[in-house]
Amino acid sequence: MVRVTRFRFLRQFLVGLVCVVMIAACGGGGDTSTPAGDAAGGGSDRLVVATEPAFPPFEFQAEDGSLAGFDIDLMNAIGEAAGFEVEFQSLPFDGIIPALQSNTVDAAISGMTITAARLETVDFSRPYIAAGLAIAVQESNTDINSIDDLEGKRIAVQIGTTGAETANGIANAQVSTFDSAPLALQELANGNADAVINDAPVTLDAIASGNIPGLKVIGELVTEEYYGIALPKGSPNLERVNSGMATIIENGTYAEIFQTWFGAEPPELPEEAPL
Ligand code: ARG
Repeated sequence: MVRVTRFRFLRQFLVGLVCVVMIAACGGGGDTSTPAGDAAGGGSDRLVVATEPAFPPFEFQAEDGSLAGFDIDLMNAIGEAAGFEVEFQSLPFDGIIPALQSNTVDAAISGMTITAARLETVDFSRPYIAAGLAIAVQESNTDINSIDDLEGKRIAVQIGTTGAETANGIANAQVSTFDSAPLALQELANGNADAVINDAPVTLDAIASGNIPGLKVIGELVTEEYYGIALPKGSPNLERVNSGMATIIENGTYAEIFQTWFGAEPPELPEEAPL
């Protein structure tokens, strides 16, 4: 059931994207010769990777408490391909960039959108998936049909996200922020918000899984976004992460992981996120 819905969503979503995205060659991630160890702490064989794990299907805690999701599998596969071990560290989403800036963590994979503003403070890997923001409302709602209808409305968002930023740009909106996307969606389900702006795949997963009942997603995507793995500015590990990613895209591991979580063939990815 969940799978079917995810699949339908993805078909819609990805087919749409294919029309828009200028597809670049997937292979050839530049220089793929792996540096065995760069200067300044490069070549460490264990990277501490931050994530905010309440964002299924990208990252979440399985019943046994272990981390699961597309991002988790992807990061582990990149580590395997590039020759480093991954140690995940759970952090609040709005604490991830500060942790990268202070070098408390080596990298972050957290459904994090590559944005021009973030690129001023951190580096990003090549894009690893396309996503975008969607508006969720209560199933019975008929007066919110596009982003223009959100003026003056109560909007719930996760703190520090592109959804929060978008909501803050809407005239007269009353924006309430939550520590996680599920909490924002719950606020909407409870009737204390009129809408949620959040990453479409995550909102659709929450609806499809039945975790948060009584919601629907309206209209089209509000934005098109690409996720990247974030690293401290100038990190010697950027090249290793990119070459690991190139390897798993070429050898089919990326496609396998994509199948597992989205039940579809992955679309080709651009080498750089259009900003
Ligand atoms: N893609 C959005 C952003 O970068 C939301 C990411 C939230 N991720 C998470 N693991 N909670 O702002």
